[in-house]
Parts: sequence; structure tokens; C-alpha cells
Amino acid sequence: MIGSHERVLVTGGAGFIATHFIQHRIANGVESIASIDKRTYAALPDTSNRSAQHRSVSGNIGDRGLINGLLREYQPIAIINFAAETHVDRSILFPGDFVQSNILGLFNLLEEVREYWKTLPDADRERFRFLQVSTDEVYGSLAPDALPCDEEARFAPNSPYAASKAAADHLARVYFVTYGLPTVVARCCNNYGPCQYPEKLIPLMMLRAIAQHQLPIYGDGRQIRDWLYVEDHCAALDLVLASGRAGETYNISAQEEHINLEVVLKLCTLLDEFHPRSSGRYADLIRHVTDRPGHDRRYALDSGKIRRELGWQPKETFESGLKKTLRWYLSNLGWLQSVTMHKPFSEWLVLNYGQRGTI
Ligand code: TYD
Repeated sequence: MIGSHERVLVTGGAGFIATHFIQHRIANGVESIASIDKRTYAALPDTSNRSAQHRSVSGNIGDRGLINGLLREYQPIAIINFAAETHVDRSILFPGDFVQSNILGLFNLLEEVREYWKTLPDADRERFRFLQVSTDEVYGSLAPDALPCDEEARFAPNSPYAASKAAADHLARVYFVTYGLPTVVARCCNNYGPCQYPEKLIPLMMLRAIAQHQLPIYGDGRQIRDWLYVEDHCAALDLVLASGRAGETYNISAQEEHINLEVVLKLCTLLDEFHPRSSGRYADLIRHVTDRPGHDRRYALDSGKIRRELGWQPKETFESGLKKTLRWYLSNLGWLQSVTMHKPFSEWLVLNYGQRGTI
């Protein structure tokens, strides 16, 4: 059992979910938390989770010397690995980055963690946890009438991103089975919430709608995703860290399946209410564009195990979470503007949407 006050090292600490996770632990009274992040294009500003309890280090999980020094100096009782490239469309364009960060990066991290873990006193070696943050995408696409995937479902990744995460899950498992390192894997569905980098569906649509730009829906827009509010994900991860059994996997999801087009229409309706256009409705901005290659039709997770064993359940419905998220973006237009003015973002729009005939 790992108490909420104990020393946790967060990798990929400047990313969207990790930033919320750090804030979640600080809000729950943690005395000390450390993070490392290589600060790529998607890193949130340093100010996002600055606090007296939080120490952040700049660097890569694949930098063995840096990780070695950090582990020995900080002496964490747990590590939670968020460090990863996470965007499917980018993985289609730059698969090598995903193999490098998500597989080789994790391998190097696990090797250093294994060495550090061996030096811990017996009781701590047993309590120690390495929590690998994973995704429902490892299970691939589900037929419309298929049951949601539980933890035993077969892996069938369809994108370089999903394949890299599947490989990472295998590595985490192997370090438990072969070396005894107490690893746990948590696989979550699509997240959304404040300060998500606007390359993902929900923040991209908000940003573009607020700027009165067209809203690009891939293909027929009938793909289905299971959506969870980011703070509910963080609460689940905290529980898995505290009480998850070594060698186990826990699926985390709201069990809230929604069709992409309906998600965007819902957002448009909320925007019509909270931030009306001077003329017309936001839904008028929707355009269907060329589909994503290998686009998964449906993801759905059965999260019965974490609900039964650890007593977790989400607090937000999709409706309440989306409203909270939208309110945050509308009150932080400066944040959105700073991201859009950043060169990597405008370059991304051209790269990903330029050939799709809308943007
Ligand atoms: P995304 O947020 O990229 O997450 P993932 O692909 O990991 O599920 O996309 C969510 C869904 O929205 C997915 O089916 C692809 C679709 N989508 C669009 O239709 N248009 C867009 O511009 C983006 C970014 C995504």
C-alpha cells in the first residue's frame, strides 16, 4: 500500500494528464512529488503545476544517467510513467518517434528502475510500484455489437501509436514476470478536460469553433469513443497506485460511448449557449474531410474490475465534464491563443489537414 503522502516520481510530468495528476496529489495533501519531462511541443508551461511540493526536472526517460541520479537522490516509492507520444495522427506521419519514446524510452527507464528497486530495503521492495499509463487503443477496433473489452481482451493495435503502447504494456508485464519488479498497467479510454493540447478532438474543435474556423470531422464521423473526464482518470490512477496489485492490469473508463459527430454537435450547442456567434450557429462550421488511414471505428472498455476491486467510479458525466471543460477554455482564451501562435501548432495544422481539403 502506498500512502497519499509518499514520494512519487511522475514521468512525462508536463503532459496533459500528468499535470492534472500532479495537481490532484498536491490537492490531496502530498508533501512531495517530483516529475521529469523532455518538454516537447505538447508540454504545458512550467507554471501549470508550480508549487512548493513539486520538483520538476527537464529531461528524457531514455537518459539513463539522468534517471539513475534522480532515482538515487529522490528515492521514490513509486513511479508513474506518463511519458509518451500520444497522438494517433502524428504516429501515422512519424512512427519512429513513437517507437523511440514509447518503447525504447520505457525500456531504458525500466532498466534503471530495476537497478534502483534492487537497492531498496525488503519491505519497500515489496510495496514499490511502477505504474504504466496505457490506453484502450491496444485492443484495436470493436464491432458495433461487441462487448466492451475487459483486461483479458486480445491485443489488436491498428496505429503505430497503439502498437507502441501495446509493446510498452508487454514490457511492463515482462519486468514483473521475469524480474519481479512490481509493475501495474492502467489502460484508459479517451480523456478530455482543461488544458489539453488542441491536437486532440475536443480541444481542437473548441479552439477552431471559438476562432470561427471550420470543424474537420474525419470520414463519416460515426466512429465511437468512450470519454472520461481527466480528473476522474487521475483519481483512478491514484487508487491503482495505492492499492493496485502488482502484475495486474486495470481498465479505466466512464463507459460513456459517444459518436464523434454527436460529440462535436454537443460542443456546438454548448457554445451556442455560452458563447454565441454574431450570426449563424457553430454547427454550420462542421465539414467532413478525408478519413484517417486505419481509423478505428469503436473503442469501448469494461472497467468493472477497478470498480469492484478498488471501489472507483467517475464523478463526472460526459455532459457535466464537457461543460466544465468548455468553461475552462472560454475563461482561458489567452492560453489557447498562446498555443495556436506557437509554430509547431500551425505547422501541425498544415501537415495533418492541408491535404484533407478543409483547413
Ligand atoms: P483523437 O482525439 O485524436 O483521439 P483518438 O484517435 O486517440 O481516439 O480523436 C478522437 C476521434 O475524433 C477519432 O475517431 C478521430 C476523430 N477526429 C476527427 O474526426 N477530426 C479531428 O480533427 C481529430 C483530431 C480527430
